[in-house]
Amino acid sequence: MDKEKDILILAIESSCDETAAAVVKNGREVLSNVIFSQIDLHTIYGGVVPEIASRKHIEKINQVIEEALSRAGVELCSMDAVAVTYGPGLVGALLVGVSEAKAISFATGIPLIGVHHIEGHISANFIENKDLEPPFICLVASGGHSHLVVVKDYGEYEIIGRTRDDAAGEAFDKVARAIGLGYPGGPKIDRISKEGNPDAIHFPRARVDENEYDFSFSGLKSAVLNYLNACRMKGEEVNTADVAASFQKAVVEVLVEHSLHAVRAYGYDKFAIAGGVASNSSLRAAFEAECRKRKIAFYHPSPVLCTDNAAMIGAAAYYEFRKGVRSGLDLNAVPNLKLGER
Ligand code: KG4
Ligand code: ZN
Repeated sequence: MDKEKDILILAIESSCDETAAAVVKNGREVLSNVIFSQIDLHTIYGGVVPEIASRKHIEKINQVIEEALSRAGVELCSMDAVAVTYGPGLVGALLVGVSEAKAISFATGIPLIGVHHIEGHISANFIENKDLEPPFICLVASGGHSHLVVVKDYGEYEIIGRTRDDAAGEAFDKVARAIGLGYPGGPKIDRISKEGNPDAIHFPRARVDENEYDFSFSGLKSAVLNYLNACRMKGEEVNTADVAASFQKAVVEVLVEHSLHAVRAYGYDKFAIAGGVASNSSLRAAFEAECRKRKIAFYHPSPVLCTDNAAMIGAAAYYEFRKGVRSGLDLNAVPNLKLGER
């Protein structure tokens, strides 16, 4: 029997502050993964400035795509599809990737596939875990989202829990700013927490009564701010590492407890994490230990595939491609695109 033809996808991601392009073979083999991070540009403002992000994407996108093709050793004309994140994200930033992908598709005739950013994050798990197949439960924790998702099949999702206020990454970023660590907060809190005592301060773990799988992080963020203010008023010195470690422990405990409760209640034996916060070392260690105890297979992407990248978009696009999904040249950026919508 003939071997099935390899499917090569050029993927583009520009939804926030990373200009990224990748070439992915058959959904799980990354031939190149080029990421231009704009973090240094936004750090001085304490967060992502949308207008600066869009302008930088325009400046960098062609170069990043050319590099992705050349590192993969392939020509544009040998691509089977060009995939692009079309939402959710910053509208101006998304539009750069979407316009670029449409221009490539129009000029070459290569089919276009619009990909949901969160579907990309979830699919990052397929790249290094060749044995992972749906169904499984995935915790997606990024700067903009904290979702508990049942991955029923490729491209088929049911969101069973979400944050009522701040996303987990947003809480990391806001607390980091309050304790003077700067942007982006997640990696900085992760690092400094290693020198702190996670039991030094007890911060609240919020429960959402109406849905046991939902999250809420704004109360925790306020508790940290109140603690810092109280210290200042009393003239007490703040131990930044202790605050960071105690805050991180509170976030990790809630994410682990809600996720594993869902895995048990839904009767799955596989669990995955995704999104920028999934690169947190304490979160990964906690899930590793708890899943081992409960005999749940635990999957996670490498840190570089947790934060925004285009390889994950190529992985997600492959399964859409196989289902026959194609986007028209009327594809538009959808800043608040819901998971599972087209
Ligand atoms: O997935 P991502 O790169 O972009 C979004 O789609 O939002 O996630 C970025 C978020 C930021 O809030 C960042 O602070 C957080 O992920 N993050 C981390 C870590 N690395 C990135 N949070 C906790 N620990 C980390 N090591
Ligand atoms: Zn993301």
